[in-house]
Amino acid sequence: MPQEPYSWRHKDLLDVDQLSREDVFHLLNTAASFHEINLRPVKKAPVLKGKSIILFFAEDSTRTKTSFDIAGKRLSADTFGLSKSGSSMQKGESLKDTSLTLEAMHPDIIVIRHNCSGAAKFLADRLNCSIVNAGDGWHAHPTQALLDCFTLYRHWGDAFAGKTVLIVGDCAHSRVFRSNVQLLSSLGVNVRVCAPRTLLPAGLSQWPIEVFHNLDDALPGVDIVMCLRLQLERMAAGLLPDMREYSARYCLNPRHLELANPGVKVMHPGPIMRGTDVSAQIADSPESLILTQVESGVAVRMAVLFLLATRTENGGRA
Ligand code: CP
Repeated sequence: MPQEPYSWRHKDLLDVDQLSREDVFHLLNTAASFHEINLRPVKKAPVLKGKSIILFFAEDSTRTKTSFDIAGKRLSADTFGLSKSGSSMQKGESLKDTSLTLEAMHPDIIVIRHNCSGAAKFLADRLNCSIVNAGDGWHAHPTQALLDCFTLYRHWGDAFAGKTVLIVGDCAHSRVFRSNVQLLSSLGVNVRVCAPRTLLPAGLSQWPIEVFHNLDDALPGVDIVMCLRLQLERMAAGLLPDMREYSARYCLNPRHLELANPGVKVMHPGPIMRGTDVSAQIADSPESLILTQVESGVAVRMAVLFLLATRTENGGRA
């Protein structure tokens, strides 16, 4: 029997767990071709001409919102930004009514960031246009995990299996942590975490990770250190009794990197808190991939918008 050729069938991108390995590598290769466009003097391709994309950000963002906007425009789509402040949500309009209102304007894609876990799925279940989850509460941030993966793909090629990534910091409140653990472990990466007990999610024994509380113990054998910001805006009082002690124990500094594998690199999804989650020396060092991640974000979001907008019709809902 001849095999059906591969085609992207997802209507929405809600989290990385909906993606097969084939989907992930197809997306990474699509991002690689768009990355080349981003390096040209004229950064424009006509592939999404006539498509409309709404960027509905009900929570603050610098990297994700700007890079989706640039991504859509570089593919010649029309992009429209809406934030919570300045929208009728401030007057009490519900998420359901706001999203039905937006869909009545016939966008092809709505990119949504919202502080409630499940907000993107709520829209995907109700609207016919494609929905991209740009971060929902503590739950998921699939395009961040995909851009982190693309950054590693640029660094390692497809040799993910057997590499070791250490995630340091506030895992409990991090949607980046949840999406990254799923994606990296599905590609055969060994994932470690290092954090105080109060900043680890419940039920961690069910996750495919090794847990440490001391950086010096966690670092030997590590290829990538991924630092996470303390999400103070989501944190209940009393979880961190002393910020200075936290920084002394978990802020990544040059001495730490000497304990890891030769060639170790440092990642951070941003925004970074210098001196709290990563030292200024590390953030500005050649070991830092932080700005490479931002660069990768444009290419990956171009790939996501392109694949959703040109998908094979009659594919599954997610
Ligand atoms: N990493 C990330 O989501 O950054 P922004 O909040 O600036 O979009």
